[in-house]
Amino acid sequence: MRTNLLVANWKMYKTPAQSAEFVEAFLPLISNKNDEIVICPPAVCIPTMVDATRTSSVFVGAQNLHWEKEGAFTGEVSAQMIVAAGCTHVIIGHSERRQYFGETDSTVNKRLEAALEAGLTPVVCIGEVLEEREAGLTEDVLRRQCAVAFRGISGAKAAKLTIAYEPVWAIGTGRTATPKMAADAHAVIRAEVAKAMGDELARKLRMLYGGSVKPENIASLMAEPEIDGALVGGASLDPKSFAAIVNYGAARG
Ligand code: PGA
Repeated sequence: MRTNLLVANWKMYKTPAQSAEFVEAFLPLISNKNDEIVICPPAVCIPTMVDATRTSSVFVGAQNLHWEKEGAFTGEVSAQMIVAAGCTHVIIGHSERRQYFGETDSTVNKRLEAALEAGLTPVVCIGEVLEEREAGLTEDVLRRQCAVAFRGISGAKAAKLTIAYEPVWAIGTGRTATPKMAADAHAVIRAEVAKAMGDELARKLRMLYGGSVKPENIASLMAEPEIDGALVGGASLDPKSFAAIVNYGAARG
């Protein structure tokens, strides 16, 4: 059985004080005791978030990391630094990092290796842009992204690997992939993971969907057996809205 995982990606929103306020409002609203819940705030909020969630079941993750342990890399943080600050998870290769900050499949590969080495749970983001989907290239793009991102990573080392399928056209646009589209993409990715890292890892691998996830669509996404959770941007910024997402099962009783 794969444990479902709900991840908030706060992007460049919230100060430390606003993060603490969020946690105070959010924790009492959580009724889901079965799934893993993670919040990835801006790096400057990590210490506040780790303190504020210490006695709860909520984990704190980073939004990025550099593959070197330390060095002259202005503006970067390493796996060791985020682990020391109390993070357990890290997002890697988000499409905004690829679009605005020059990340490539090969830098994703280096970051992934560093995250696994440091014992973090990496959430590797992959997904196609609209032109690629419209040109019928979705499967090719997903295969290429997986092939490079997982190069040289052995199944033995990758037990914690998690993947978020995020069609870029669905991020922050209000357009969501249908549960079927997401499940189809997940099947392609799982097959690629099996090829690169073995069947056993592929079976255990958790795969999230991301892109305009909201309280209104989370239950139908989570009803797909191929979907093991969600990576949530905009709708994770408000405690009530993110609580409604993490409590997606409540309506089913
Ligand atoms: P969104 O963002 O939920 O605001 O579409 C998702 C993401 O970028 O991870």
